[in-house]
Amino acid sequence: MTPKSYAPSPAFTASAHIDRAGYDEMYARSVSDPVGFWGEMGKTLDWITPYTQVKNTTFDFGRVDIQWYSDGVLNVSANCIDRHLPKRSLQTAIIFEPDDPETPAQHITYKELSDKVNRFANVLLSQGVMRGDRVVIYLPMIPEAAYAMLACARIGAIHSIVFAGFSPDALANRINDSGAKVVITADHAPRGGRSTPLKSNTDAALLHCSDKVRCLVVKHTGEQTSWVQGRDVDVKYLMEHASPECPPRPMNAEDPLFVLYTSGSTGKPKGVVHTSGGYLTYAALTHKYVFDYHDGDVFWCTADVGWVTGHSYIIYGPLANGATTVMFEGVPTYPDAGRFWQVCEKHKVNQFYTAPTALRALMAHGNAPVEKYDLSSIKVLGTVGEPINPEAWNWYNDVVGKGRAPIVDTWWQTETGGHLLAPLPGAVATKPGSATLPFFGVQPVILDATSGEEITTTEAEGVLCLKDSWPGQMRTVWGDHERFQETYFQQYKGYYFSGDGCRRDADGYYWITGRVDDVINVSGHRMGTAEVESALVAHAAVAEAAVVGYPHEIKGQGIYAYVTLMNDQEPSDALKKELEVWVRTEIGPIAKPDFIQWAPGLPKTRSGKIMRRILRKIAENDTGSMGDISTLADPSVVEDLIGNSIYNQ
Ligand code: WT7
Repeated sequence: MTPKSYAPSPAFTASAHIDRAGYDEMYARSVSDPVGFWGEMGKTLDWITPYTQVKNTTFDFGRVDIQWYSDGVLNVSANCIDRHLPKRSLQTAIIFEPDDPETPAQHITYKELSDKVNRFANVLLSQGVMRGDRVVIYLPMIPEAAYAMLACARIGAIHSIVFAGFSPDALANRINDSGAKVVITADHAPRGGRSTPLKSNTDAALLHCSDKVRCLVVKHTGEQTSWVQGRDVDVKYLMEHASPECPPRPMNAEDPLFVLYTSGSTGKPKGVVHTSGGYLTYAALTHKYVFDYHDGDVFWCTADVGWVTGHSYIIYGPLANGATTVMFEGVPTYPDAGRFWQVCEKHKVNQFYTAPTALRALMAHGNAPVEKYDLSSIKVLGTVGEPINPEAWNWYNDVVGKGRAPIVDTWWQTETGGHLLAPLPGAVATKPGSATLPFFGVQPVILDATSGEEITTTEAEGVLCLKDSWPGQMRTVWGDHERFQETYFQQYKGYYFSGDGCRRDADGYYWITGRVDDVINVSGHRMGTAEVESALVAHAAVAEAAVVGYPHEIKGQGIYAYVTLMNDQEPSDALKKELEVWVRTEIGPIAKPDFIQWAPGLPKTRSGKIMRRILRKIAENDTGSMGDISTLADPSVVEDLIGNSIYNQ
């Protein structure tokens, strides 16, 4: 059955930035003349020294090098703040909506943002942070997170945000890998009525770091925390006493803006490096076109700044465009399942951007919590993070958008900096479950997974690669350019390999089918199965572990762990609980296995390699198409695993 297609409404198109003919024309130009196109688009930013170079990029394995606007000089914070001041000093830049709906929201104007960011920048300077130094940010979704990011950008320091849901161990690894001089944290992070002790997590992390690392603490809730004299610093106090003026440091377009750690199929999370000029150009342009953002609109992306979505579409894209952006400290279901919609009504949100997992969780509460609120301000609805199932798409469209708001399903990655596939509302017809067509300058190709040949027919299925660079692309892995090349450019020579499978339909629309590597997508968050496995085997009772994804109604994918115990260990429910808690503390709550199955043996080849394909099939309850298992060292383990799987409890 051909899925239904939703054409843009003429009324929407009439006031949109672009219509279909405009998209086709601009897209064609962007790929036939990338230098001309991006040369022009880069001018939407303010440059201290204009660039003469636009694009210097090569995907050739062995010498991969990506540079955009390489001789241009600019400052990202000046582009997000200072240049707006003449026109927008009294306009709200950030609406901060606290976790507790009873606490009043804060409306932070561009003038106030400027004041805070300048002060914060001076605090960083006073702590010895210099251009190129790394600053780890481990904060809740509070305005200080935005101030800290922009303050780093102002002085040329490189921020690396660690999601506040990560454990002390994960935090320590990132502080150490990035070689950070400073970590910025808060006393506590209230979320969904509960509180995470960020400062004591940071204390625990810093036990494993150089004693030179300073700890800047935002007293957010005011709860008591421990205090290490000489190491810990009260940020708010210092900000009050700092100068509200700190000149933006001229930075090269290719100076790193941030490092963001993300999971891959092997090894430890890698530090994805994004630089300044190209990244900001791309974040701003996608924000404008994909959400059809207009002056005066209120934009709300519900992500956390700990993920790339928060970087590009809470902070950098919207603020570069002089937008009003909402920062929400809470969760979708606290105090009840109407919270998102209450905030949309309260702040008259025009563009709303969230993840399918949140929609599925809210759908389960029915329509009443949505219908209670006036959502007539909403013009565009966005989704990101994982494929959206048609049920959730339809609910979003019918119940939230009342059929009036185009849905933009945006496919992209931490590595891509901004959207690569997405419908431009008003221009491109949507189909539930498809991220539709490429953004300007993006050249998707589908390769045959085995031969690596490009499939040139319109209808195609294979792995999704990109043929050429775009300005928002990551530049390297922090401290490991080899790993960057090996991860993204080795398997399919001459292309950037996304790690996703994809189908292209007869209309040229792209449908992401999910990861083709050992990365799973849990509630729109990326998790390397290898990471969870190494956490499990670090427990004394565990001999071996294999982790795969399995279909989960709310999370999209859940974490399914097969665990083989040491000979002297007895399987028990208590031990399962202990392992769950163990993984939570090793990595963070998002990595907790959803199901642990005791596996007396794992399916292995005669050479000892675990056959993950078989484990995936069992976890997906797809044991009819197991394929050839005769090459297993001991085929009988498969029967046992099937018999005790989650489906046979
Ligand atoms: C992976 C990237 C980009 C910010 C959020 C996640 C999956 C992302 C979609 C979408 C289908 C999607 C892909 C991708 N993904 N958006 N609209 N439809 N799948 O960033 O943690 O870097 O994960 O998320 O598998 O490779 P990330």
